Amino acid sequence: MSCKTAEDVSDRFQASFFAMCRLHAFQWDALETELKASSEPSGVILDILKKTCLHSICCKTPPSVRYRRLFLLELIKRHERTAAEPLDELYDALAEVVGAEEEPVCYKTYLLPSGEPVSLEENVAFISEGTTGLVTWEAALYLSEWALENPHVFAGRTVLELGSGAGLTGIVVCRACKPTKYVFSDCHESVLQRLRNNVHHNGLTEHGNPKSVSACVEELVWESVSDEQLQRIGADVVIAADVVYDPDIIGCLVRLLAKLLVFKKEQHLEVYIASTIRNPRTYDCFRDELEKAGLKHLVITHPVAHIFPYTRAATIEMLKLHC
Ligand SMILES: C[S@@+](CC[C@H](N)C(=O)[O-])C[C@H]1O[C@@H](n2cnc3c(N)ncnc32)[C@H](O)[C@@H]1O
Repeated sequence: MSCKTAEDVSDRFQASFFAMCRLHAFQWDALETELKASSEPSGVILDILKKTCLHSICCKTPPSVRYRRLFLLELIKRHERTAAEPLDELYDALAEVVGAEEEPVCYKTYLLPSGEPVSLEENVAFISEGTTGLVTWEAALYLSEWALENPHVFAGRTVLELGSGAGLTGIVVCRACKPTKYVFSDCHESVLQRLRNNVHHNGLTEHGNPKSVSACVEELVWESVSDEQLQRIGADVVIAADVVYDPDIIGCLVRLLAKLLVFKKEQHLEVYIASTIRNPRTYDCFRDELEKAGLKHLVITHPVAHIFPYTRAATIEMLKLHC
C-alpha cells in the first residue's frame, strides 16, 4: 500500500463526508483496493473514522444523524468484507447515532484548499418552508471554486450577492478573496435568519478592520428594492448563484440587474451569475430577457479546479453581464 494513496483516499472521504455527499458518490472502490493491499486494513478504516465521525468538526458541526448512521453502516460493511476482526471504534461510533433523534437541520462543512472549514447550518430537505434558500446548491459551489481561482475580481471591492441562501459563496469570497465589504442578501425571513447565523458562526462581522472584510446581511427583494438601498450599498461587483429557476421571477431579476448596471455605467460594475441549467427553456427565457433589457452577456467557459466534492452531472453556466 502506498501511504500517499491511503491518505488521499481518507482525505477524499473526509471532504465528501462533511459536505454530506451522496454515499454512492464516495470512492468505495478505491477504499476497497487500499483495504486489500494493506497489511493493516483496520488502520485504514480507523484513519477514515478519525477524519470523519471522530473528528472535532463532527463534534461541533455534525452532518445529520441519519447520514452518519448510513455512512458508518457502509464503512462497517466494507471493513467486514476484508474479513478483519471487528473494529470496536466503528461500533462505538454507530452506537452514538443509532438511537439519536433525527432533526430537520444539520451542518455541512466545506473544506477550503487551506484546510480551513466553512461550516453551514442547512436543512436536511432541499425545499422547506416554501424556499430553496436553506441549503447550498451546486452553482454556489461552482461560483465559490471560480472565486478561489479569480480572487482579483473581488479584492479591495464592495461585493453584493443576490439570493445568498445559506451563504457559502460569500463566506468563501470573504475568507479567500479579500473584498473590502461583502453584502449578503436574500428575501425570505427564515433564510435571512439562517444566513445571519452562518455568517456569524464563520467569524464574519460588520466591523471589519484593515485586515478583515466587513460583512453584513440585508433583506433585498428583487421586486421592491429601492434605488436608495442600491446606491447605499454601492457595489463594485454583483454575484449570484442559482437564481434562475423560476420563470415568474426572471423579469424582476433582470430589471434589477439592468438598474444596477445603469447606475454604475461609468464605473464598470461587474456582474457574474452562475446557474445550473435544469430547464433550458427557463434559462433561454432569462437570456432573452437580458437581451431585451439591453444587457449583453459573455459566457465564461473555462473549467475550474475541482475543490469541493459535488456531482458535476448538471450543466452549470456562468455569465458575465455588461451594458
Ligand atoms: C436556489 S436558492 C440559491 C441559494 C444560494 N445562492 C445557493 O446557490 O446555494 C435561490 C435563492 O434566491 C432567493 N430569492 C428568490 N427569489 C427572490 C427574490 N424575489 N428576491 C430576493 N431573493 C430571492 C431565495 O430566497 C433563495 O435563497
